[in-house]
Amino acid sequence: MGIKILGMGCYLPEQKLTNDDFTRFVDTNDEWIRTRTGITERRMAGWEPTWYMGKEAALKAIEKAGIAPEDIGLVVAASATSDFHTPTISCIIQNETGAVNAAAFDVNAACSGFVYALDTARRFLETDKSMKYVLVVAAEALSRFIDFEDRSSCILFGDGAAAAVIERSDALYTSHLGADGSGSHLLYARCVNVAEEVKVESDFDDGFPEKRLHKLYQNGKEVYKFATKALPKAFTLAAEKAGITPADIDWFVPHQANVRIIETAAKNLGVPMDKFIITLDHYGNTSSASIPLALCEAIDKGTIKRGQKLALIGFGAGLTYAGAIFEY
Ligand code: COA
Repeated sequence: MGIKILGMGCYLPEQKLTNDDFTRFVDTNDEWIRTRTGITERRMAGWEPTWYMGKEAALKAIEKAGIAPEDIGLVVAASATSDFHTPTISCIIQNETGAVNAAAFDVNAACSGFVYALDTARRFLETDKSMKYVLVVAAEALSRFIDFEDRSSCILFGDGAAAAVIERSDALYTSHLGADGSGSHLLYARCVNVAEEVKVESDFDDGFPEKRLHKLYQNGKEVYKFATKALPKAFTLAAEKAGITPADIDWFVPHQANVRIIETAAKNLGVPMDKFIITLDHYGNTSSASIPLALCEAIDKGTIKRGQKLALIGFGAGLTYAGAIFEY
């Protein structure tokens, strides 16, 4: 059983941060950021909570899909930067969009989150035939966790949200979800709570080197190495299940972390770069929102057309990786 994307929507905060803007906080420059990452600017949430960005994207997706929100059976939201430990942003979005008959839960698989959420949604559609539509949302406010004193990581990230309404179809679908928890200490942001403070103050070595509360920490070089292998792996493991080769794919929609990571993955897969949708130059790395934002933009521009085969491939903290191949 496959899926059909009926409509997509996205939300981007108005505030832009250019590479030059970062020279105000850290010792960096536009040339370094562009050549090492491919990023020129990114959006930063101001007053907008994460759920608000997700809700705005979801409302547009529902409108484009042309469905009644009451017919949505499930809201799955991917986020690594939720506003609350509880409730989930999916519950807030369920209420805000009028999806009154939907179950709602969040998925946190970091930057692989949208693919995890989409794949989970498909499994619900397959096993519960009373469910007509699923709303899959990814929303992130990374700016609230970025360490603006760390020049090697603060320049990478941006905020935004995107959403899709899906239904079941008879078309092709294959996927693979993976994780390697041995790399969990390579990219993380601690929860802010009393227990953590006690733990950090007691010098308990939990294996996570950066002790400062709640800021995002990454070992850039190790994450880079993982990412260049994870992208081709996520694709290959999903593709093998359906006898698909890279040549069968019309568009690769990768997680938008660093253009050099995507170039290496493209080379390893033997696929030209012009088959990869790239938005990281203007949005940076928006974690779970990056793949659906790229997808949404390419659909809106008419680049991705109905009937074309897509490969969504993600990787992220956890460490996680995920691939989903289906027809638009
Ligand atoms: N501006 C200027 N110089 C910078 C800089 C910045 N923003 N950030 C780091 N540098 C410096 C370093 O301090 C280092 O200086 P040194 O040689 O004097 O020590 C030099 O640039 C090279 O640093 P290095 O870490 O080797 O750069 P890199 O080419 O590996 O690029 C990343 C760094 C972070 C861009 C890269 O490792 C990366 O993209 N990693 C993956 C991160 C990621 O995708 N995370 C999210 C995954 S979902």
